Amino acid sequence: MLSKKDLLGLNDVPKEEIELILDTAVNMKKLLKQGVKKLPNLQGKSVITLFYENSTRTRMSFELASKFMSAVAANISASSSSVAKGETLIDTGKTLDSMCTDVIIIRHPVGGAPALLAQNVKASVINAGDGMNEHPSQGLLDMLTMKERFGELKGLKVAIVGDIKHSRVAKSDIFGLTKMGAEVNLFAPSTLMPSGIDSFGAKICSSREEALSGANVVMGLRLQLERMKGGLFPSVAEYHEFYGINDSHLKLADSNAIVMHPGPVNRGVELSSSAIDADVSLINEQVKSGVAVRMAILSLLTKK
Ligand code: CP
Repeated sequence: MLSKKDLLGLNDVPKEEIELILDTAVNMKKLLKQGVKKLPNLQGKSVITLFYENSTRTRMSFELASKFMSAVAANISASSSSVAKGETLIDTGKTLDSMCTDVIIIRHPVGGAPALLAQNVKASVINAGDGMNEHPSQGLLDMLTMKERFGELKGLKVAIVGDIKHSRVAKSDIFGLTKMGAEVNLFAPSTLMPSGIDSFGAKICSSREEALSGANVVMGLRLQLERMKGGLFPSVAEYHEFYGINDSHLKLADSNAIVMHPGPVNRGVELSSSAIDADVSLINEQVKSGVAVRMAILSLLTKK
C-alpha cells in the first residue's frame, strides 16, 4: 500500500515505498514472463488515461497493465475530447470523477498539472509526464531495469547525458536513484542544464569522459526539439559530435556497463545506431519493465 492517494513524482515518495513498488514490479515481471496476463488485482476498478501530449510507451503500457489486472480501461486524447472545446482541466477531472473513475493517468505539457488535478478529484492521479517536471513511472521502470541487471541500486554509477533541462525522466531518475544510494553523473551543453540542478544531489560533469568514466549505466536522453524555442546549440550534427554517445565513448564506461534510453530515440543524435542496437543496450528491456512497474503502481495505489 502507498501512503498517498496519488503518484505525482519521485521527489516526494519515501525510499521504503520505492522499494515496495520495485519489489512488487519484480513479481509482476516474473508473472508476465510466464505468460500470465489476467490477474484480479484491479477487478471492479476503472482506469482512464488522459493524455494532452503524444505517447507510445507510457499510454500503452498503462492501458495494458490495467487490462492485465482486470480493470475497465479507457483512453481520452485531448485532441478528440471536450478539452478541444475549451473545457478546463479541473472540469474534465470532475467529469471523470462523476463517471466513477478510480484512477486518472495524466500526461500534460505544463508542469504541476497532475498535482492540480489531484487536488480536485476523488480518483487517484498518476503523473505520466508533466512538462519538464517529473515522469515517476519512467524513473521507476529505469530503476527496475538497473536493479534486475545489477542486483541493487546502492553504489551504482549512472551517467545521464543529453537534454537534461527539458527531461522530466532525468528529474525522476535523479530523485529516485539518489534516494536509493546510486551516484548520478550529468553531462549536457550548459544551455540544456536546468537552473538549480546543483541542489538535486547529482554530480555535474564538465566532459563526456568525466561523466562516463567507470559508469555502470550510460543513459542517453532525447533532444526535445519541440520544447526548444531555438538557438540552444548550433546544429543536431554538432550536438552528436560533442554530446552524443557512440561505441568508442562506451569504452570509457565500466566493462559490464549497460546502455539505456527512455525512448523515443533520435537515432544518430543522442546515441549512435550501433550503441542503440548493442548487446549491452537494455532499451527494449526498459519497455518490458514499464508494463510490470505500471502494474505494481496501479495495484498498490488502489489497494485499501
Ligand atoms: N518514455 C516515454 O515516456 O515514452 P512515450 O513518450 O512513448 O510514452
